[in-house]
Amino acid sequence: MARLSLKGDWAVVTGASTGIGRELARQLSAQGAKLIVVARRRPALEELAQSLPTQCEVVDADLSNEQGLARLFAVVEERGLKVAHVINNAGFGSVGRFAEMAEVDLVGQIQLNCVALTRVTRHFLPQMLARGRGGLMQVSSVVSYVPTPFMAAYSATKAYVTSLCMAMGPELKGTGVHCTALCPGPVATGFQERARYEISAMERGNQLPVQEVARQAIEGYLRRKPVVVPGARNSLMCWMSRHVPEGFASSVARTVMLRAGRDKPLPRLGT
Ligand SMILES: NC(=O)c1ccc[n+]([C@@H]2O[C@H](COP(=O)([O-])OP(=O)(O)OC[C@H]3O[C@@H](n4cnc5c(N)ncnc54)[C@H](OP(=O)(O)O)[C@@H]3O)[C@@H](O)[C@H]2O)c1
Repeated sequence: MARLSLKGDWAVVTGASTGIGRELARQLSAQGAKLIVVARRRPALEELAQSLPTQCEVVDADLSNEQGLARLFAVVEERGLKVAHVINNAGFGSVGRFAEMAEVDLVGQIQLNCVALTRVTRHFLPQMLARGRGGLMQVSSVVSYVPTPFMAAYSATKAYVTSLCMAMGPELKGTGVHCTALCPGPVATGFQERARYEISAMERGNQLPVQEVARQAIEGYLRRKPVVVPGARNSLMCWMSRHVPEGFASSVARTVMLRAGRDKPLPRLGT
């Protein structure tokens, strides 16, 4: 199948103010896509928009609530933008023992990583299907393959994302619309500060620069791959987790997470 072209298409990128989303936006724009960038921090989005070579609309919205979602949908509707690509990237995680985790963090992860992603997908998909063209990039994680102790809720939200995308792919067959799950391993972004941990020495070995993660993500998306796991080590880890006895990968993850101190989150700094 021919590689997709992004030239002149509108793409929504959620969580574009920093990290992976910002880099995806930058590279999508470099390939000719016009962007609708979404996050809570408007100044960071405006700075990004000004640096891009293509048209870029800024929407500051908290996607974890109804008003934020409605705001995104209204802006796209009012400006008559025909969205061809949706990059559902906004997300966050929290570390610690489930029983000790603040309910706002537990529910917040489900609200943003699962509910917002589902709502945004459901909103834009019918328009893409009607035009017979488009795609969804659902940003998941390698932890979607391993139920991960001390990040239990986060890994469960990402299992939802990968599973949803893997199920939707065959459902969309023949429609001209496809779905790619992006499953990055560790990437140094604002993610760690919000999740309240520091990248461990072991994770540093698997870490890829954000530019490389975005490059592989977009290349896989344009080739309509169902799943993209950037980095050979991360791919191997995902493959192995599916070929070991049930529970084994989570038991190894427990040891690794305890060694990295993930049962004790660092003091809260930011949002
Ligand atoms: N970094 C990693 O190691 C890693 C690994 C695997 C998967 N991922 C996934 O990659 C995605 C991007 O994470 P990242 O590493 O780039 O982290 P990041 O630097 O913290 O970026 C998260 C983005 O999401 C936005 N966001 C957070 N809460 C939001 C809300 N309520 N409404 C709208 N936007 C919101 C943030 O912008 P505002 O704060 O301005 O709203 C920011 O632009 C996430 O889905 C994450 O789970 C990350």
